[in-house]
Amino acid sequence: MANKNEPTRNLALELARVTEAAAMAAGRFMGRGDKEAADQAAVNAMRTVLQTVDMNGIIVIGEGEKDNAPMLFNGETVGSGSAPDVDVAVDPIDGTRPLAFGRSNSLATVAIAPRGTMFDPGPFVYMNKIAVGPEAKGKINIEISITENLKAIAKAKNKDVEDLTTIILDRDRHKEMIAEIRKAGARIRQIPDGDVGAALMTAWPDSGVDVLFGVGGTPEGVLAACALRAMGGEIQGKLYARDDDELRRGNEAGYDFEKILTMDDLVSSEDVFFAATGITDGEFLKGVRYFGDRASTDSLVVRGLTGTVRQISATHRIDKLDQLGAVKY
Ligand code: FBP
Repeated sequence: MANKNEPTRNLALELARVTEAAAMAAGRFMGRGDKEAADQAAVNAMRTVLQTVDMNGIIVIGEGEKDNAPMLFNGETVGSGSAPDVDVAVDPIDGTRPLAFGRSNSLATVAIAPRGTMFDPGPFVYMNKIAVGPEAKGKINIEISITENLKAIAKAKNKDVEDLTTIILDRDRHKEMIAEIRKAGARIRQIPDGDVGAALMTAWPDSGVDVLFGVGGTPEGVLAACALRAMGGEIQGKLYARDDDELRRGNEAGYDFEKILTMDDLVSSEDVFFAATGITDGEFLKGVRYFGDRASTDSLVVRGLTGTVRQISATHRIDKLDQLGAVKY
């Protein structure tokens, strides 16, 4: 065991290489209108670099099981196989649509936490979410109304509800929530995609975003929980069934759609690592730039135990990486 005063390994720094690789591979597909090809490139790159990380990882949040496809599927083992034993969450591209059409805010993300500490959503793809940054941590409750949450967040941030900016995916399923936010008087940013980045913005100084509401992907919810845990924010969720059949299947599989998924349910350890690299330009991370034999990336790296948040700008030599041959950039 490490001496108490000894700094321990920060796996998130190694994870930055993983998300950089996925972003550089996927960034070539910006605006090409081909989501599948972009995803395949990101997955291949992410998987190749993940294998170089010294860890015994199992993918808990992945791409879903796909027969024989070179995807990062749930249950797959990744890493060199040596200690530590960890759960791994990946989203090689959060925002495949924005990437395919050259729009902003698409990210490559990955998170790691000790084995058995990440929530496994099984096949249940959607979750209702509320996420805030450090100032409003402990003040939110997904069980009470949006209006009451807004009042609590405003109080915690010493603002009026009218000063708050909410962020929510632009989806028909959010019509009632949006109407309630408007009635309460808060401002709204309706975004086309990307609620991992949106959740991070609530904890990002000067992003101008105070709270995320709405139903998005469950995998994205677990990734956001890992990041917010490290950044001192909070997310709560509740599984969301699209129809009665999904609800029935969920209940049969032992999932409780009424249960509040707290931070501790979503990731129960403080010893969590998260990294993200911009693919297209975003609010807090620049997208990938290519310059002949070079490319540049902008990444965010956070570590739960220390709460350190790093931004890493890197210049990569594509000519040299091509010689090493593992991934095509
Ligand atoms: P992908 O790029 O992985 O498809 O996710 C984009 C995204 O906007 C997520 O950020 C969000 O959680 C989810 O899709 C919402 O799902 P849907 O588009 O089905 O409403």
